[in-house]
Amino acid sequence: MNICVVGLQWGDEGKGKVVDILAEKNDIVVRYGGGANAGHTVVIGDKKFALHLLPSGAVRPNTVCVIANGVVVDPEVLLGEIDSLINKGITLDDRLLISENAHVVLDYHKAEDRLREESLGKNKIGTTVRGIGPCYSDKVGRSYAVRMADLLNIENLKGKIENIVNYKNKIFGALYNAEPMNAGEIYEKCKVYSQKLSKYVCDTTAYLHEQIEAGRNILFEGAQGALLDLDHGTFPFVTSSNASSLGVGPGCGVPVQMIDNFIGVVKAYTTRVGAGPFPSELENEIGQYIRDKGHEYGTTTGRPRRCGWFDAMVVKYAAKIGGINELAMMHLDTLAGLDEVKICTGYTIDGKEVKMFPSNIDKLAKVECVFKTVKGFGEDLTEVDSFEKLPDQARLYVKAVEDAVGLPVTIIGVGPSRKQTIFRK
Ligand code: GDP
Ligand code: IMO
Ligand code: MG
Repeated sequence: MNICVVGLQWGDEGKGKVVDILAEKNDIVVRYGGGANAGHTVVIGDKKFALHLLPSGAVRPNTVCVIANGVVVDPEVLLGEIDSLINKGITLDDRLLISENAHVVLDYHKAEDRLREESLGKNKIGTTVRGIGPCYSDKVGRSYAVRMADLLNIENLKGKIENIVNYKNKIFGALYNAEPMNAGEIYEKCKVYSQKLSKYVCDTTAYLHEQIEAGRNILFEGAQGALLDLDHGTFPFVTSSNASSLGVGPGCGVPVQMIDNFIGVVKAYTTRVGAGPFPSELENEIGQYIRDKGHEYGTTTGRPRRCGWFDAMVVKYAAKIGGINELAMMHLDTLAGLDEVKICTGYTIDGKEVKMFPSNIDKLAKVECVFKTVKGFGEDLTEVDSFEKLPDQARLYVKAVEDAVGLPVTIIGVGPSRKQTIFRK
């Protein structure tokens, strides 16, 4: 069984937790898109792991971890992550594979991300400043791109880095009056990356197909969420990759026909970090209640997340474009304690029903949410271990979400830890 797990909102749905749980029955976990903008949390007992580039299967000692071609790899972050796992007694030798075709995020990408965001002022995207957009731009532009394969050929990289830094310095100087960067320093860092990472670099596409033929189970771990998808999200307030499950094929060379199940992860409400439209946002004390109770602060940047009611229009759209079969709903426990809970079940523009979520932000700015209100559930849910033991109102809430989206909720989160998970299958 090959499974793809993706976020169906604006990221941070709890993908890390779901992937970690499912990884128990899968041999291989693959990251196929995004980069260190992702922050995937796995909580096992009193240990908490925040993974940015390594697949969430990394915390299991026998799981093979693949960073496929669609990922933009920041070697500094990756090496830090590998070291921090070693400090926790987990080694990745012999079970980490990085695609030779994955692009490399270097200092000038992060500088460009920061300079561009600063220059945009109030019009900024609110990126994670991890150099993601600039690195994917170089990938598309081709001439100034550096891939993992280039780290294997380190002598040849010297001239290439000099060329690129020379080009970037001219642009950053002219546009932003920025201090020039030192090509020699960047190249020296690349030499270290080459020494430490070359042993992991290989043809991951060939590897994945061999493993599929051998009948091994593969788990594909999405980063970000469908509404941050470059083509199908709320452009320009998106990330620079296909963050919906549509990115899996190009991101790792495995066609969707080879994936048996697409699981969409959602929160029982909605969050978003960074700028951009958010129709069901709660800019009031209820939003603050959710932020406090759900610890809604970014895993990567620490920024407070914007919070709002569950938006079924968002999730229905994300599920349709992503071919989603079932939902994993996290953070049901966070809603406990509210007198009433709302679900956005539809949109209108000028009183007329909107059939499908409009990703065009000019249209989206005009929508009014239609809400269904259900009674809240007072009790603490964090110890509940089966669907039947949930309070009636919590079960009715799950049912209302299923009806509004048209998909079954098969996994429910009632706390951050592995064991605070209810399975309905
Ligand atoms: P990801 O990017 O989709 O992997 O999600 P993040 O790790 O960025 O954010 C999800 C946050 O919610 C993390 O702090 C998780 O530990 C936490 N979390 C996941 N599932 C649950 C849940 O069911 N209940 C609660 N209270 N926290 C959860
Ligand atoms: P995970 O995998 C939430 C958001 C940023 C910003 C926009 C563009 O943890 O769910 P970028 O740095 O990618 O150019 O920023 O996308 N963003 C995320 N929001 N979770 C993420 O990843 C995100 N990755 C990027 O906040 O609005
Ligand atoms: Mg996250």
